[in-house]
Amino acid sequence: MTGQKIDGIAVANAVKERVRGAVKALQSDGVTPCLATVLVGENPASAVYVKNKQKACTEVGITTKDHKLPESFSQQEMNSLIDLLNNDNTVHGILVQLPLPKQLDEFATISRISPIKDVDGLTPYNVGLLSTGRAILKPCTPSGIMEMFDYYNIDLTGKHAVIINRSNLIGRPLYNLLLEKNVTVTTCHSKTQNLKEHCQKADIVITAVGDRTKFVLTADMVKDGAIVIDVGISRQDSKLVGDVDYDSIIKKASYVTPVPGGVGPMTVAMLLKNTVTAASINKGFGSGS
Ligand code: GUN
Repeated sequence: MTGQKIDGIAVANAVKERVRGAVKALQSDGVTPCLATVLVGENPASAVYVKNKQKACTEVGITTKDHKLPESFSQQEMNSLIDLLNNDNTVHGILVQLPLPKQLDEFATISRISPIKDVDGLTPYNVGLLSTGRAILKPCTPSGIMEMFDYYNIDLTGKHAVIINRSNLIGRPLYNLLLEKNVTVTTCHSKTQNLKEHCQKADIVITAVGDRTKFVLTADMVKDGAIVIDVGISRQDSKLVGDVDYDSIIKKASYVTPVPGGVGPMTVAMLLKNTVTAASINKGFGSGS
């Protein structure tokens, strides 16, 4: 059996099309959605990600305000910037690109963002809503994966998923989103024993390690007909690669996401979706209307 490639670019384009429509509707109400991006330091991968996010915003009619700060940016300066953006009625979404340089406290920084402008869904308030099944602004990569399942009409009920990641950006929110869809979820991480056995039992394997010197998901690790989602991105000989040995796994699995062209475009598309959602939540606030 040869599985089907999940085309992240096609799914992302479908989301973008819906976002374009929502932007037009907001514009006819006198609101132009605006995303403020905050990038600190010189991390080249982060700079590329932020540039891609800004470009995608422009494509769908969302304006951007670019805040590019030096590596030495202090916590006090960060707090002032976030307060300024929280109080700016023309800004509907705030994205602080992670990771941050070590003098900046990631939790303090994210927690300061107003939950109604939190287009990454990472503030404690929105994380709490997510863990009780009530979130409106959900983390972009996990909600992008859920959108892919939806697009391909993949029935999740009763399936067993193994997630190889426990981060706040990916593993933890994904756990909650899958649980909402009646999936049985196992979260694995760097200290998990018998990782291969866990993967072999799973109907769905979602891997987000991002370092092929530490982990590669090979065909012998998945069962026939498994659904395999590759969130890991790393560079090998200047080529982008994922965690998954795609060419062998596609012959055994039912669905597999490629790298590039899989989950990556979905992260960006869901950020656009969250930004128009934030703009429609925000539009009644602070404008006197
Ligand atoms: N760094 C890697 N992925 C992300 C993301 O989805 N949001 C933010 N803010 N930073 C990231």
